[in-house]
Amino acid sequence: MSALSLARRQPLIGREVELARLRAAQRSGARTLLVTGDAGIGKTMLCEHALAEMEADGALVLRGSGVPGGDVPFGVVLRAADSAPVGPSGAGHRDR
Ligand SMILES: Nc1ncnc2c1ncn2[C@@H]1O[C@H](COP(=O)(O)OP(=O)(O)OP(=O)(O)O)[C@@H](O)[C@H]1O
Ligand SMILES: [Mg+2]
Repeated sequence: MSALSLARRQPLIGREVELARLRAAQRSGARTLLVTGDAGIGKTMLCEHALAEMEADGALVLRGSGVPGGDVPFGVVLRAADSAPVGPSGAGHRDR
């Protein structure tokens, strides 16, 4: 599910300050952001909403998640690269 469709399904309550910080970081050209917080505090929800906004504004959003219990080196980065759209239309994904 895309960040946009998830964000449409579940409205974000509050978090204006945090969203503003993520927007400002993107505008400033930040390359890495670390979002931290207690378990279940809403890190994923916040990021999904920020990403949905950025995607709607034309940003390319690549997604990679870690694998619980161990992963190959740079697994998150590899999966993010794999999620990139390919082809002249930008539609579709690589076949593996
Ligand atoms: N600002 C918010 N508005 C509405 N619902 C929220 C908000 N923040 C979190 N939630 C809801 O609370 C639950 C936990 O949020 P989320 O999964 O984003 O937390 P998390 O910090 O990423 O958790 P984890 O540490 O397990 O990764 C989800 O059901 C999410 O939809
Ligand atoms: Mg999370």
